[in-house]
Amino acid sequence: MPHSSDRHRAHGGVLHHAHGGVLHHARGYEIVSMLAFGGFRRHTYDALVHASGAQPGDRVVDVGCGTGYLTRRAAVAVTHTGTVTGVDPSPQMLALARRHAPPTCTFTEAGGERLPVDDGTADRVVSCLAFHHIPPELRADAVREMHRVLRPGGRLLVADFRPPRAWPARHLLGAVAGPAMRYDGSDEVLAAVEAAGFHDVTTGRQRPLLFVVTATRP
Ligand SMILES: C[S@@+](CC[C@H](N)C(=O)[O-])C[C@H]1O[C@@H](n2cnc3c(N)ncnc32)[C@H](O)[C@@H]1O
Repeated sequence: MPHSSDRHRAHGGVLHHAHGGVLHHARGYEIVSMLAFGGFRRHTYDALVHASGAQPGDRVVDVGCGTGYLTRRAAVAVTHTGTVTGVDPSPQMLALARRHAPPTCTFTEAGGERLPVDDGTADRVVSCLAFHHIPPELRADAVREMHRVLRPGGRLLVADFRPPRAWPARHLLGAVAGPAMRYDGSDEVLAAVEAAGFHDVTTGRQRPLLFVVTATRP
């Protein structure tokens, strides 16, 4: 039976509704992630935290936090006076995240489409490599949730995988890492962010394989 995401294949082999799903193999994910960033993981995630504008004292929410690498890097930026809440539906990923996190980090089991966070209480919402893991029909809900939990003036940063443009590299990656790795979600993220009512929307890249969208809640 074909993977559901394969039913949405577009011209040129770029998938537009690929779905990575909930991850369970926390240690395996850590190894793959470290290898994939080739020694630049900390540098890349610190650049994302910097782009989010996180400052000492901020309350940050990390959506689809997985094993908590971005959560921990954000915790460094907000210092002991701030807090970071990691949210992910995978208990296995959260168990590993909790093991390595400082006391300023807390973790909650939930999907991004229903954030267990009060309205207007976050200074920053960040999310890395998680958007394509949210079921396609829930992605707009997840971005509306990010908008709901941010305070007015609060900043959003969503980064996700941007597959190589050249089709041989894209197909090789898809064959090795699964069809979701051929998915370029930048247009979908941008559309959802604008539809949710964010302002000051910017797009960019971090390293060759990540796109980044930032925006402000008015
Ligand atoms: C590739 S990992 C990224 C983890 C982490 N943000 C990082 O950069 O290392 C994607 C994560 O999204 C999570 N996920 C799956 N469905 C989700 C949903 N509906 N809402 C939020 N996160 C989800 C997965 O369980 C997984 O931990």
